[in-house]
Amino acid sequence: MSLHRSFTLDLQPNRLSDEGLPVKPFPVAISSATSEYCMDTSTHKHEVLIGVGGGVAAYKTAALVSQLVQEDIGVTVIMTPAAQQFIGAATFAALTGREVAVDTFDAKYPLGAHITLANRAHLFCIAPATANILAKAAHGIADDLLSTVYLARTCPVLVAPAMNCEMWEKPAVARNVKQLQDDGVTIIGPDEGWLSCRRKGLGRMSSPEAIATAIHAALSSPHPT
Ligand SMILES: Cc1cc2nc3c(=O)[nH]c(=O)nc-3n(C[C@H](O)[C@H](O)[C@H](O)COP(=O)(O)O)c2cc1C
Repeated sequence: MSLHRSFTLDLQPNRLSDEGLPVKPFPVAISSATSEYCMDTSTHKHEVLIGVGGGVAAYKTAALVSQLVQEDIGVTVIMTPAAQQFIGAATFAALTGREVAVDTFDAKYPLGAHITLANRAHLFCIAPATANILAKAAHGIADDLLSTVYLARTCPVLVAPAMNCEMWEKPAVARNVKQLQDDGVTIIGPDEGWLSCRRKGLGRMSSPEAIATAIHAALSSPHPT
């Protein structure tokens, strides 16, 4: 494909002359090399899916994603609708050079985004994992793209829970975590420390560095499938 296709952009749409008449669009030629350079279309040794749940800790996942990309790992981000209340998809799109997956019914994926994304992943890491995501994964509920990918994938899964300490201490959450461990999921953290509910306690998402270390360990260990 040519790296020098050019497009015309109308930078001043609906421009009017002094007489109030429409002015012909001003064409600007730009090279598609820029967009191709920015899009991550290259092949990577490792492909990692990062699932982002709806918690304040989602902002820390941007640092995790940036670190993985700088290590030449191909990263695709899946966000829940709630996650988009906390951090914009544009941040993850820019960091990964890829579109962020948010929609189960996305026309770009005729087989279903959950199938295509799951098939190419070497690892699925959910960070932050909300109490809701833990519950859905533990019970096989697939009512959004992230939870559907969880069921469709065959690769190893790492989960970094993050929530208020009262939520983390609930027996229902502990049961779901235990179920996920029994299902072969690796749980990272949570850590003790300052929580966004302005308390100190257990429930803080592990640091991006700690999660990245767990991802590297999982990628370098043999996987049965
Ligand atoms: C300000 C705020 C912070 C929240 N933080 C968390 C959190 O850290 N962990 C959690 O499990 N839920 C948290 N929630 C609740 C979740 O956003 C809510 O349960 C949501 O349904 C989760 O959706 P998801 O699991 O699909 O992302 C928070 C809600 C609000 C309004």
